[in-house]
Amino acid sequence: MPNSDISISIPPKLVAELRAAQHVAVLTGAGISAESGVPTFREAQTGLWAKYDPEELATPYAFQRNPRLVWEWYDWRRELVAQANPNPGHLALAELEQRMPKFTLITQNVDGLHQRAGSRNVIELHGNINRTKCFDQGGIIDFWPPTTELPPRCPRCGGLLRPDVVWFGESLPQKALHTAFTAAEQCDLFLSIGTSSVVQPAASLPLVALEQGITTVEINPNPTPLSARVTYMLPGPSGQILPVLLETLNQP
Ligand code: APR
Repeated sequence: MPNSDISISIPPKLVAELRAAQHVAVLTGAGISAESGVPTFREAQTGLWAKYDPEELATPYAFQRNPRLVWEWYDWRRELVAQANPNPGHLALAELEQRMPKFTLITQNVDGLHQRAGSRNVIELHGNINRTKCFDQGGIIDFWPPTTELPPRCPRCGGLLRPDVVWFGESLPQKALHTAFTAAEQCDLFLSIGTSSVVQPAASLPLVALEQGITTVEINPNPTPLSARVTYMLPGPSGQILPVLLETLNQP
């Protein structure tokens, strides 16, 4: 039994629905990585970065204004991610994927922790912090000559390099978005985990599922705009709830 300081009970009807499900779709947000030590977007940052608001750093305008500052902030986040490990919530989702006929994991996270936990079918809506692209031309750049200049420059065109993540005001990758909305419409159970449900278009995914009459579950220690609408709200940290959910499912 996972260590737990909250009492978690999974509604038996939800367990039955999960057992019968042919296609489960999951949306995750920064909250699922909180227990791995990766700070969420809307909580105060620590240390040197405490005085900055992520929403003011994660924009193309911020990068144009002060590319070095934005690159260094991402360097700090990359370092946090490199030191972090998948937590029991990530691992439970990877295991859930194994036992489902079809499983679509849609994430707003850029930390790659789902893949490191063993999840296979991961749709990254907001890119990945460990990939780099050219700010001017958008091409993915894997290598660049060592330099003290920050940000480094694109070896192809000399443009500035930036992380391959979706910033506020930018559009999401179209194919990933299409796959995500199709999964939300066609799954027979939808889980929304660790997201504040305020950033579009991801916040619409559970609403699309609900409109189709699909059972929708939220896992979050705090209420969100979605909470009142879901079929089941499981309040608490995902690193505690998901292992219990999986264990309940595995019981005879
Ligand atoms: N388990 C589950 N949920 C948690 C946990 C936890 N241990 N700890 C915190 N949460 C919840 C918070 O209550 C909050 O609702 O996770 C949510 C995190 O919200 P945000 O920081 O807003 O993250 P997210 O919803 O992923 O943000 C969406 O906005 O800033 C952009 O591009 C960025 O991908 C991000 C997007």
